[in-house]
Amino acid sequence: MSRAGRDALISTLRIGPPPAELVRSALDRAFADAEARGGLVAALDAGCGRNSILAAYRSRIGRFVGADVHSPPDGSLAYLDEFVVADLCADSEAFPPASFDVILSNFTVEHFADPPAAFANLRRWLRPGGHLVITTVNRRHPFVRSYLGIPPRARARLQRLVKTTAADAHPLVGACNDPRTLQAALASAGFTSVDIQTTGHLARAWGRRLPTFTLGLIGDLAVKPVASRRSTIVAEAVAP
Ligand SMILES: C[S@@+](CC[C@H](N)C(=O)[O-])C[C@H]1O[C@@H](n2cnc3c(N)ncnc32)[C@H](O)[C@@H]1O
Repeated sequence: MSRAGRDALISTLRIGPPPAELVRSALDRAFADAEARGGLVAALDAGCGRNSILAAYRSRIGRFVGADVHSPPDGSLAYLDEFVVADLCADSEAFPPASFDVILSNFTVEHFADPPAAFANLRRWLRPGGHLVITTVNRRHPFVRSYLGIPPRARARLQRLVKTTAADAHPLVGACNDPRTLQAALASAGFTSVDIQTTGHLARAWGRRLPTFTLGLIGDLAVKPVASRRSTIVAEAVAP
């Protein structure tokens, strides 16, 4: 089955919107709020990797910063004004307080060694009223829980099967990866208006090969009616 055929099947079976679609809705709200406060929007992609959904908002961003523990390959992330090597869990001085109106952290939380420290940093770096948008995996999904429970060496081999490139296979921790724990951690870090959504994303994420796509589709369908168990979490929160 072609990639287009797999996408059509996901859509026919109403697995749920892609996380990127939920992120774009959350970012639309974040930018609307920031623009209502006036001035140019300062945005951070925290754990930017090599792609940023924020790039689509480039024309509305006055200062666009990316941060990651790994430097990107030369010539990538051309849309950024600035790239900073930073460990979001440890480098609390990476940015002065109140530097940004919008922070996106897309599929990063599952890699954080110390999520409460990272959330405290992200909150400190946001201006009052600024928005944080986060996506991550949900260990309440049985496949995700099993995947996170595989010993690291075996999981690294499996990641190479399901990920597009070896460079996408980052070490996984999964310390704050269910809706309730994430909601509580964001509230403890001082965020308000914490909103958590979930969607099925295994078939899409594992869709590179037919066997892993099929497994993902079964996993998405099995928990479709139970929101708290869907594979992927999209969270929004506001800095007071
Ligand atoms: C799955 S990738 C997602 C990349 C990008 N956000 C995207 O949506 O394509 C996870 C990224 O988080 C980064 N990362 C993981 N832990 C981090 C930390 N403690 N501080 C900064 N970046 C981190 C990794 O280096 C990697 O680039």
